[in-house]
Amino acid sequence: MSNETNRRDFIGYSFAAVAAVGGAAALVGMKQAWDPLPSVLAGGFTTVDLSTIKAGEPETFVWRGKPVFVLKKTSDMDQSKRDLIVGSDRFIIAIGLCTHLGCIPAWKKDVWKCACHGGEYNASAKNIFGPPPRPLDVPPFKLEGTKVVLGESSPEYKKIAAFVATEA
Ligand code: FES
Repeated sequence: MSNETNRRDFIGYSFAAVAAVGGAAALVGMKQAWDPLPSVLAGGFTTVDLSTIKAGEPETFVWRGKPVFVLKKTSDMDQSKRDLIVGSDRFIIAIGLCTHLGCIPAWKKDVWKCACHGGEYNASAKNIFGPPPRPLDVPPFKLEGTKVVLGESSPEYKKIAAFVATEA
């Protein structure tokens, strides 16, 4: 083997090594660009402490930019298969966007009323009047003790979502 051949091999291997390092660096850069920012990942979940919610006074939380209603039912409110039962309490968790055209209903006298076209939902988030074609949607959630993590699926969520699908 001549010196010339060895030199050519060396130059070839050098280029290959430089190309490999450059390719790996480019892949790392691309992955960092594609991965969601930590703030975006954290924004995918919202934790709600159910123990702070007063019966009959629904609160609105924000999950992925959407309003989510959480109502602790009073003892005189009708029970529903949609209720999330925690201890002796019953909760309704619903995305607070009217299923007609997406306005945000307001809670008045134990009913969510939509000002846009007069739609109404009862305390179980079921459509009871006006143009809404179905109940308020259920956000994916997971129960952890007395807290609910919005954005995570769970068997409780699947059971309630399956029931709500039958109401539509
Ligand atoms: S958007 Fe609510 S009734 Fe039309």
